[in-house]
Parts: sequence; structure tokens; C-alpha cells
Amino acid sequence: MFDAQIYSNRRNILKNKFESGLLLILGNEEAPANYTGNSFPFRQDSTFLYYFGIDLPGLAAVIDIDNHVETIYGNDFTVDDIVWMGPQPKVQELALLTEINISHPIAKLEEHINDAVQRGRKIHFLPQYRAELLFKVSDLTGLNYSRINDYASEKLIKAVVDQRSIKSEEEIKEIDAAVDIAYKMHTSSMKMVKPGILEMKIAGMIEGISLSLGSGLSFRPIVSVNGQTLHNHFYGNTMEEGDLLVNDSGAESKLHYASDITRTIPVSGKFSQKQREIYQIVLKAEMEAINSVKPGIMNKDLHIGAAKIIAEGLNDLGLMKGSIDDAVNSGAHGMFFPHGLGHMMGLDVHDMENLGENFVGYDERTERSEQFGLKYLRLAKTLQPGHVFTIEPGIYFIPELIDMWKKQSRHEEFINYDKVEEYQDFGGIRIEDDVLVTEESFRVLGSKPIPKSVEEVETLASS
Ligand code: GLY
Ligand code: MN
Repeated sequence: MFDAQIYSNRRNILKNKFESGLLLILGNEEAPANYTGNSFPFRQDSTFLYYFGIDLPGLAAVIDIDNHVETIYGNDFTVDDIVWMGPQPKVQELALLTEINISHPIAKLEEHINDAVQRGRKIHFLPQYRAELLFKVSDLTGLNYSRINDYASEKLIKAVVDQRSIKSEEEIKEIDAAVDIAYKMHTSSMKMVKPGILEMKIAGMIEGISLSLGSGLSFRPIVSVNGQTLHNHFYGNTMEEGDLLVNDSGAESKLHYASDITRTIPVSGKFSQKQREIYQIVLKAEMEAINSVKPGIMNKDLHIGAAKIIAEGLNDLGLMKGSIDDAVNSGAHGMFFPHGLGHMMGLDVHDMENLGENFVGYDERTERSEQFGLKYLRLAKTLQPGHVFTIEPGIYFIPELIDMWKKQSRHEEFINYDKVEEYQDFGGIRIEDDVLVTEESFRVLGSKPIPKSVEEVETLASS
């Protein structure tokens, strides 16, 4: 945990945004993997972590705005539990760690919320993403579980998003630490790739590093020679001479702040001419986007800028044709770059995505596009000092998409399909770093840069 005062300060900021009502913030429960006693590794809810810092299951918190009372609810462990789990802190002790001096068993939470419901008091809660907590909120409020999220408090969502979006110094330190773990994961992968080994050797090795240095992975990693599949979680291929391995993986720091880094590695140690040409376009798009970061700029504009660099590079190679501006306006580049430039990052790798992507990445001035590719942009709004986000352009050759667009003659004024056919089995390339918006410009997070130039990657990959 950070110092207790950090959590009470955060709660004070939150409370000042409300005149009345109850703020109900639920911690996560253990989630069974294949039977109740064998659970997935526990991951606390990030908003609960942000305001209370207690990294244990089965807790809930209520901030009563009208009566200025904060309460932690949870059940103390029994002696039977302690026999299996070892000594456990009492809920009262946990509450004190976060500067809250009132704690009660969970049964009292029901009474408290029931009483508030009877009195017609407003109960603000966040959208729920786990079945156990949908049922819990349903039990507490009497609302049908399938409609719980229709009643989530927009006021609370917006207040939390506003606050969590701006990272403080101690949070940035944690993210730096998470990126430094990713440094080890990625440089070790570069040294380990070679023809004849399975993707899962790399996947297992990076997970080991993440667990030995922090709190494990920040998401299921993508370690694949089929990088054209954006979220590919299959690790069963054997890497072969000439393949490109996309390694999109990140770690959680000890306090659960995320990193999210992508590097693309030539399995044989050297990029082929064709691979190097595409790699250089992606790298240019990534570095120019990073170098353009400053407060006041819209991330949607950075995305469009990266799309233009990609379209320009593909034009030079004869894969695209015509006006670059017109091609990007029409969305033709989306066949090669079908995802957004990046997303906010913090306690969640896609920060606060559970609260609603549009609340996090869009505002009154930015509306989500319907265009293929651009519609997947998670972060479009104006960047502010304290924002931490990813920059992760890519170029992919997705055979199914190419075939479909070609049959439909889609964007044929901008796409040279005959040339694209020569790249059908190319795979994909993505390069990703994590960036902080500073008062003046930006800082790429992590204490040292993770190798990404052609020369650096080849040196490590052939070592
Ligand atoms: N790192 C995977 C993603 O950003 O979706
Ligand atoms: Mn990412």
C-alpha cells in the first residue's frame, strides 16, 4: 500500500464532488477456476485499490456523504480458515491501514443499504463486471442482476474517471517499475527467440519474470508468429526461420500498476528486406506519435497522424496508392492498421475500461467514429499532464480481411490488391510503448528504453 494518507486524500477529493447519498464501492471476491477451493489468482478491483488500497478479497466500502462516515465491511477469518491460511488481519486492522476507523461484518452492509433504499437515498455504485458482484449488488439493492449496470451512477463513474485519469507521482513510479519489469520480459524474449522453439517457451518465461519481479502479468500476453491476429492467445506454434514474433506483454508492479509493451522480433535474428521495410514504417509512426505528445493535443489527431505515416509508407512500397489524406479520410488504411493508436493505462492495462470506454477515452468534443479501424480507438480525447497511455501502431496482413475487401473492391482507388497479395503470409508488426504526458511534453516510461531500432532488435535476437 501507499501511505494511508494518500487513500484518505483521494477519498476526500471524491467526496467533495457529492452533496448527498451513499457511494458503494465493492472489492472483488475470490473467483473459482475449476472448483471453489481452487481459485484464479486474486485480483482486487482497481477502483477499490485506488481509494482503499486493501488487496484482499471479500471487502466492501461505503462512503456516506450526508453523515460523513466511511465504513469498511468484511468478515473476519475463523480459526478454521487460519489453520489453512495462516494468521490473518482483522477487518478492523485493515480499515485502519487506510485511515478508516469504522468496520462491520458484511451482514451489516445489507442492513445499511436496505435502510438507505427504504429511505429513498441515492446509492451510487459503479458498473459491475464480475458475476458474483452483480449478484451481490442485486441482493443489496433489490434490483434485478441482469439490469444492475443500467443503474450504475454516471456521476460516480465520471468522478472516478476524472480522478484516476491523472496519475500522481507515486503512481508514475509504480508504472515506471512495471515498465522496467517489461524491459526484462522483452529483452529476454529477444535473446531467446530462435527457429525450432515453441511460442509457449517465451510465454512461460515472460510470465515467470513478471511473477518474480512484481505481481505477475497485466494481461494475457500475445506471443505469436501470427501477429496479424490482434489478440492472439495461442502459444502452440513452433517458431520458424523467417517468422516474425509479436510479443505484446506487460507486467503489474507490486501495487498492481500496469505496463503494456509490444516488440516484434525476427525469429532468425535478422529482418528480411520486406520485413525491415514494414518495420521501419511502424517504428516511424510510433516514434513520431510519441514525439508529438504534449498537453492539449487530441489523441485522435495522433492516431490520424500515425495512420498517415503508415499510408505514406505503404504508398512508397506500392501497397497503397493515391492521395494519403483521402485514403486515411476514407479509412482505406484500416485494412493494414485496423485498431486504435492506444489506450489509457494505470491500475488497469486498459485503464478503467470496466467503467465504460467512452467515459475514459472520449468527451463532449470527441465522438466515437463508426469507421472500420477508427471505431476501435479507445482514447480519442485531449491529452492532459498526468495522463498515461500507450502508443502502439501496427501493420498487419490479415488474409481473411484482404480477401473480403478485395472481393468487394473496397477502397480499390487506394489499395493495390495485386501487390498486397505478395504479403498474404507476412503476419503483423506492432511496436508499443507507455507514455506520460508531462507539463510541457512527454516522457516514455521506464528507467531505460526498451530496444526497438532494427539494429538493436537484431543484435539481441541474434545473440
Ligand atoms: N496489450 C493489448 C492491448 O492493448 O489490447
Ligand atoms: Mn496496449
